[in-house]
Amino acid sequence: MTPLNIVILAAGKGTRMYSEKPKVLHALAGKPLVQHVLDCAISLQPQQVCVVYGHGGEAVPQAMSQYAARFVIQEPQLGTGHAVQQAMPHLGDEGTTLVLYGDVPLIQHGTLHQMQQVGNGLVLLTVNLPNPSGYGRIVRDAQGDVLAIVEEKDATPEQREIREVNTGILLAPTKMLRGWLAKLQNNNTQGEYYLTDIVSMAVQQGVAVHTVQPAQEWEIHGINSKSQLAVLERTWQLVEASRLLIKGVTLADASRIDVRGKLNCGRDVEIDVGCIFEGKVSLGDNVRVGAYSVIRNSSIAAGTEIAPYSHIDSSEVGANCRIGPYARLRPGTKLGDEVHIGNFVEVKNSEIAANSKANHLSYIGDSTVGSRVNVGAGTITCNYDGVNKHRTVIEDDVFIGSDTQLVAPVTVGKGSTIGAGSTITRNTPGNELTLSRSKQVTVAGWKRSARKK
Ligand code: UD1
Ligand code: MG
Repeated sequence: MTPLNIVILAAGKGTRMYSEKPKVLHALAGKPLVQHVLDCAISLQPQQVCVVYGHGGEAVPQAMSQYAARFVIQEPQLGTGHAVQQAMPHLGDEGTTLVLYGDVPLIQHGTLHQMQQVGNGLVLLTVNLPNPSGYGRIVRDAQGDVLAIVEEKDATPEQREIREVNTGILLAPTKMLRGWLAKLQNNNTQGEYYLTDIVSMAVQQGVAVHTVQPAQEWEIHGINSKSQLAVLERTWQLVEASRLLIKGVTLADASRIDVRGKLNCGRDVEIDVGCIFEGKVSLGDNVRVGAYSVIRNSSIAAGTEIAPYSHIDSSEVGANCRIGPYARLRPGTKLGDEVHIGNFVEVKNSEIAANSKANHLSYIGDSTVGSRVNVGAGTITCNYDGVNKHRTVIEDDVFIGSDTQLVAPVTVGKGSTIGAGSTITRNTPGNELTLSRSKQVTVAGWKRSARKK
């Protein structure tokens, strides 16, 4: 394939977002709009990607600095043709140039690939809309060949009847594009340099003008306001949900799931309403996720049940575990198979081996917990002395009585039992009962103080 340049226009102010943030940095499915476009652009393996951003939009190159793209400022903003002109000095003459938009986030690889397949000449991405208002119209001759794009504000009443509109996305031979852009005039209703004027120039030179339609209409929807963003977010989430349904995932309600990243599911996975998946999440076979759970960058192995309202972040959960309701697994949690983590239990940066349980109201932080351990209700690892964090080691087959504090660094020896209500500050020997408690006394004849009259 011929070398490809990609220009992403992202200089628009986004006035109607009523925000301090540049429009293209607002998120859809948890990712900035322009980043969706950059990811799609990169997937075409271009030679060069050039993002045209606007005055006051310095946050755009800063936020996207992980991309091997060139960021070019357009100031002042004199129209879409002028915007592409800013990129031209940075592009080599060979091959073709594709123009994309930072506020049209859901354009898909397949549609752009189809444009590349068309061959020589100018390729426009167009779409037929029942209500074409606001868009440039595709004007064709009696043979159906494209003659020009006319902006709505410059169109005659007859031209306004045309339903085929310009999405703005186009592919052109770079050398020709350079020549056409140099000849643009701004003698139109808006006083702008229109990128769309290159179409009639191509026609005059006898260069073929082809059109391609997107696979789905939502691919070409642009964002100008928070309401358009909200609508496109729901559209995208339904796309994600139907992908999951097609693969056999059971969703309690396809309109009440949010995927902000990549969710991989095994067979017979069930997801209840209101769940949010962020980053990379994988759910093994037969995993069930209860209502209103939030899972980010984590893997859950086969057969595990996540009960409602659980939060799992950057954790690995083994097979056949029972998590929640109301459990919180923080980054660095690694659970073996058949582990139970119950309500109001928080685990952080800890490994808990197979068949261990912490069923109620506990904090397990910076710990290594063995197999078949029972952590009683209210047990807390005191991992922080105000300056440093220390580790707690709980060896296999330990039983920790309720309401115990384990003051780290400390090791609870294999098979040992800790009496309820203990504060453990030193290592405990294996297979013995250790407790630290004052003796229970009864003070005979003691009276509560009476209220003064
Ligand atoms: C443009 C097209 C129109 C098409 C429509 C699709 C032109 C002249 N018209 O119209 O045919 O139907 O898009 O939405 O191209 N931008 C810059 N710098 C500028 C001007 C615009 O970066 O100086 C960017 C904007 O941020 C936006 C995009 O280009 O992402 C389109 O600009 P906009 O002003 O919305 O063009 P339209 O008038 O909608
Ligand atoms: Mg527009």
